Amino acid sequence: MVVAPPASWTACQDVLSWRPERSYRVWHDRAVFHFLVDDDQRSAYLTTARAALAPDARVVIGTFAPEGPESCSGLSVRRYAPGDLEVVFGPGFEVVEHRREEHHTPGGALQVFTWVAMVYLKGAGAPRA
Ligand SMILES: C[S@@+](CC[C@H](N)C(=O)[O-])C[C@H]1O[C@@H](n2cnc3c(N)ncnc32)[C@H](O)[C@@H]1O
Repeated sequence: MVVAPPASWTACQDVLSWRPERSYRVWHDRAVFHFLVDDDQRSAYLTTARAALAPDARVVIGTFAPEGPESCSGLSVRRYAPGDLEVVFGPGFEVVEHRREEHHTPGGALQVFTWVAMVYLKGAGAPRA
């Protein structure tokens, strides 16, 4: 029998200003990154992610797809295809899998998501955002 050690996780209040005090092997973001419509916001997000991620960490990101909603909760969003996310995250992040999800909200609306799973190759390449 294999017993996994207990996982510990963190949910931060503001990913743009959070300064992680340890490294993480998994980063999961559903429907947060697509609210970052400005380059400086995306740059801050990626600075935080790079500081938080251990080498070979898995990064799973879900955003609205190009045919997804243009806004959510009254806020503008930026929509991504898998290749767009790979470009924005930059050369240190390698996409290993991507999917399209048709999410039906409780209110009956259709929201098309792009999901990517990436591996973080710490130290590879220069930041892009
Ligand atoms: C559409 S909700 C998604 C919530 C959840 N991840 C899910 O999939 O149901 C967007 C979330 O982004 C969070 N958010 C927006 N800007 C953020 C930031 N700078 N740092 C951390 N969370 C943020 C909001 O608090 C909100 O919970």
